[in-house]
Amino acid sequence: MNIVVINGQNHKGSTYHIGRMLADMLAKKDEITEFFLPRDLNHFCLGCYSCIEDETKCPFWNEKKVILDAMERADLLIFTSPNYCLAPSGAMKSFLDLMFDCWMVHRPREWMFQKRAVILSTSAGASNGGAMKIVKNSLFGWGVPYIKTYGIAVQAMNWDMVKNKKKAKIEKDMTGIAKKLRCEKAPRVGVKTRLMFRMMGMMHAAGWDSSPTEKQYWAERGWLGKGRPWKQSK
Ligand SMILES: Cc1cc2nc3c(=O)[nH]c(=O)nc-3n(C[C@H](O)[C@H](O)[C@H](O)COP(=O)(O)O)c2cc1C
Repeated sequence: MNIVVINGQNHKGSTYHIGRMLADMLAKKDEITEFFLPRDLNHFCLGCYSCIEDETKCPFWNEKKVILDAMERADLLIFTSPNYCLAPSGAMKSFLDLMFDCWMVHRPREWMFQKRAVILSTSAGASNGGAMKIVKNSLFGWGVPYIKTYGIAVQAMNWDMVKNKKKAKIEKDMTGIAKKLRCEKAPRVGVKTRLMFRMMGMMHAAGWDSSPTEKQYWAERGWLGKGRPWKQSK
């Protein structure tokens, strides 16, 4: 299984270790590609909207493309981020902002509708719901049909500080998630995504695009009619 792990932090703390644990349960070492943020995409979105006209015009396209290409080849995407002030890390948020053009409302990629993703977050004590929700919103917006979240309060500032009992619980939980991921078949695009896609299609048909190139993108793929990305992608 090809896995891409996008770490919302450069360091290898509790969150990284949980992501790596899950990846190691599912894949061989050479099947796992890790990205670290901000190391591998060290930019904030400039709000220039160049990507809306043409994705390759993003000032950071070269770095972004490396990550997008790896994501396209992956069978599973794992996103990790520590809980920073009840949100994902700033680096993870910057990455999500730079993926703005992938949202269904703009130029969704066919292959996103085939992906499975797991979002992992750790905190000292607080709920990770808010941090994971922000990542999940983007993944839903990109069209990813299977999104599993797992958050845990580790009461620690790094992996070494995490108590053995807690590590054992995490390992048990990751074993459960890995088992499910191994058994499940290709994900099915849900009703919410289908409805959202249809609404976006109606919007583009009516000419409510951010740019005429968006309507063209949708029209070329037959999405303004009955064509759907989850039926077209391999
Ligand atoms: C900038 C910053 C903000 C944080 N905010 C919170 C928070 O709001 N709630 C919480 O429970 N823990 C918070 N923490 C603690 C981390 O979420 C926690 O230690 C986490 O397990 C760190 O993951 P890591 O080992 O992967 O870096 C914060 C830590 C930092 C550095």
